[in-house]
Amino acid sequence: MIATLKARSRREAVTIRRAQFADREAIHSLIQHFARAGEMLPVPLDGIGNQGFLVAEVDGEVVACGALKFWEDGTVEIRSLAVAAHMAGRGIGKLLVRQLASACQVALPNGVMPQLFALTLKPAFFLKVGFDIVPRGMFAAKERGDCVACPFKDACREIAVLWRGSF
Ligand SMILES: CC(C)(COP(=O)(O)OP(=O)(O)OC[C@H]1O[C@@H](n2cnc3c(N)ncnc32)[C@H](O)[C@@H]1OP(=O)(O)O)[C@@H](O)C(=O)NCCC(=O)NCCS
Repeated sequence: MIATLKARSRREAVTIRRAQFADREAIHSLIQHFARAGEMLPVPLDGIGNQGFLVAEVDGEVVACGALKFWEDGTVEIRSLAVAAHMAGRGIGKLLVRQLASACQVALPNGVMPQLFALTLKPAFFLKVGFDIVPRGMFAAKERGDCVACPFKDACREIAVLWRGSF
């Protein structure tokens, strides 16, 4: 269990915490907003409770979310990262990535930092927050576990990014 992070974005106090069951609808609606625009993959409401989400709150409102997926080959994926459009550009996405990276480190034996990656249509954001672009083929468990069955697999535009290990 990671500690709650209290921080400031460029404008306001932000709390980043582990998602509760009651956050499911808010997380779903954040993701659906961007999924409808083709900016990220949709996630079914039923699946959200099991996926290890963190959320960012401002004044009691869930304004951002992101999840970690631990793959069997030891790699860890950041997925479903979304910041509400009215809160974009204030540093909340960066705070959330930082806390996801900490959560991933805490969850693993000896605090060893694993290969933390994302597949994204926003590589420029990830480059800004400590990731490099890498070949897609590096993440075999992800390929087997998700990509093979993905309806977009033959036209996938996502770019793989790997965390450098510091911000
Ligand atoms: C991409 C996203 C997560 C960024 O969140 P955010 O809170 O607006 O980002 P931040 O304010 O923390 O930005 C951190 C840095 O990245 C830059 N950045 C943010 N979005 C960017 C983008 N789309 N392209 C290039 N740079 C970007 C910021 O300018 C900032 O740089 P700086 O530190 O030099 O000023 C958010 O816009 C979003 O949810 N988009 C829709 C869903 C999505 O595409 N998710 C991506 C993961 S799959």
